[in-house]
Amino acid sequence: MSEKIVLAYSGGLDTSVSIRWLQEKYNAEVVTLTLDLGQQDDLGEIAERAYALGVKNHHELDVKEEFVANYICPAIRANGLYGGKYPLATALGRPLIATKLVEIAEKEGATAVAHGCTGKGNDQVRIDVTVRALNPSLKVIAPVRDWNMSRDQEILYAKEKGIKIQSSSSIYSIDQNLWGRSIESGPLENPAEEPPNDAFEWVVPPEDAPSTPGYLELGFKDGIPTSVDGTEASTLELIKTVSRIAGGYGVGIVDQMEDRLVGIKSREVYEAPAATTIIEAHRELEHMVLTRHEIAFKERVEKEWAWLVYSGLWMEPLRFALDSFIRTTQRRVDGKIRLKLYKGGIRVVGRSSENSLYKLELSTYNKASTFDQRSAVGFIELWGLQSRLAAKLASDLTGRNQSEHPKREPRQKVK
Ligand code: ARG
Repeated sequence: MSEKIVLAYSGGLDTSVSIRWLQEKYNAEVVTLTLDLGQQDDLGEIAERAYALGVKNHHELDVKEEFVANYICPAIRANGLYGGKYPLATALGRPLIATKLVEIAEKEGATAVAHGCTGKGNDQVRIDVTVRALNPSLKVIAPVRDWNMSRDQEILYAKEKGIKIQSSSSIYSIDQNLWGRSIESGPLENPAEEPPNDAFEWVVPPEDAPSTPGYLELGFKDGIPTSVDGTEASTLELIKTVSRIAGGYGVGIVDQMEDRLVGIKSREVYEAPAATTIIEAHRELEHMVLTRHEIAFKERVEKEWAWLVYSGLWMEPLRFALDSFIRTTQRRVDGKIRLKLYKGGIRVVGRSSENSLYKLELSTYNKASTFDQRSAVGFIELWGLQSRLAAKLASDLTGRNQSEHPKREPRQKVK
């Protein structure tokens, strides 16, 4: 009996040639799986293409809700940005693809799963690691990686085998889902040059954005946005609305020098209007309701969280543990954030929350203040205690042994 392999199929060049290659090399029955992660592809056409390539069974799953609830919401709570800029759209989608590959493989009784990732990127790591954590008995095959073919060679192979590819095939390599659009290759490979406007589909070039500013109000509950401009919406609908509005004001382009997991530096360009806006608002709300100790520690946790997700370790127990910590911090993250959008710029201009730790009677400089300024004196005495002692010691030593300590002006006695 021939082997059965479940291939994650996007309908593009890499995965289309992979179907034929798996059929020929492994004499395998190829089953395809396409997920709807909100990437806005014509799924019917993708299914047709799969069947035209001799696939017996094609699965199509709408996983948008699951993607939002289990992947995007944790990313919002974690202010998930890799390198401080990239909202991890592709990185979040891969473990979900891997999870569904395993589910379908188990249902189909397949012995292997396959994907179209190359051997140069992060995506292969994300899928392989997740599949192997979920079901170690499944083999993972990456035809493009095993094959080591260039894009031109793939096109040639496709022609040879009569595989139809879209002639309008973009010069860019695109991966998109609800949370963002990752754009690579073509002219973007020259990091000295500005990305051409034709690379962008979701964000209006800032210079063409409206000449008057727009405003957006996001309401949050438990760290998740639940309303836009006063109207309640599901997170899925809200992401789409914010994407459209912020993108219309030129907000959400990220242009980044990135360190890939395999060590390659690459120039990456993203469009992520919803992610950029929501994370900006969420972070600002946290600054209103969390203590400075929570904020300082959470920032370290966020960095680690983003690193784990970026580097394919979605299934790592540490990621679950960090998520638990983050969840605990989000119980008070309720409130409203008002943002001003103007020609690619975004700025929080208003915030309010019932859980606010901002107290006017403490911070005000006018007479209504309830803060007894005299209590600051004792605080400063203790706050600077060790610094004062160290400074005195340094000045005494400077007098005694010039060679071991930096030269400094003779000082007045420290009291
Ligand atoms: N550099 C990004 C990441 O590692 C985006 C990868 C995009 N993939 C693609 N096939 N264009 O998450």
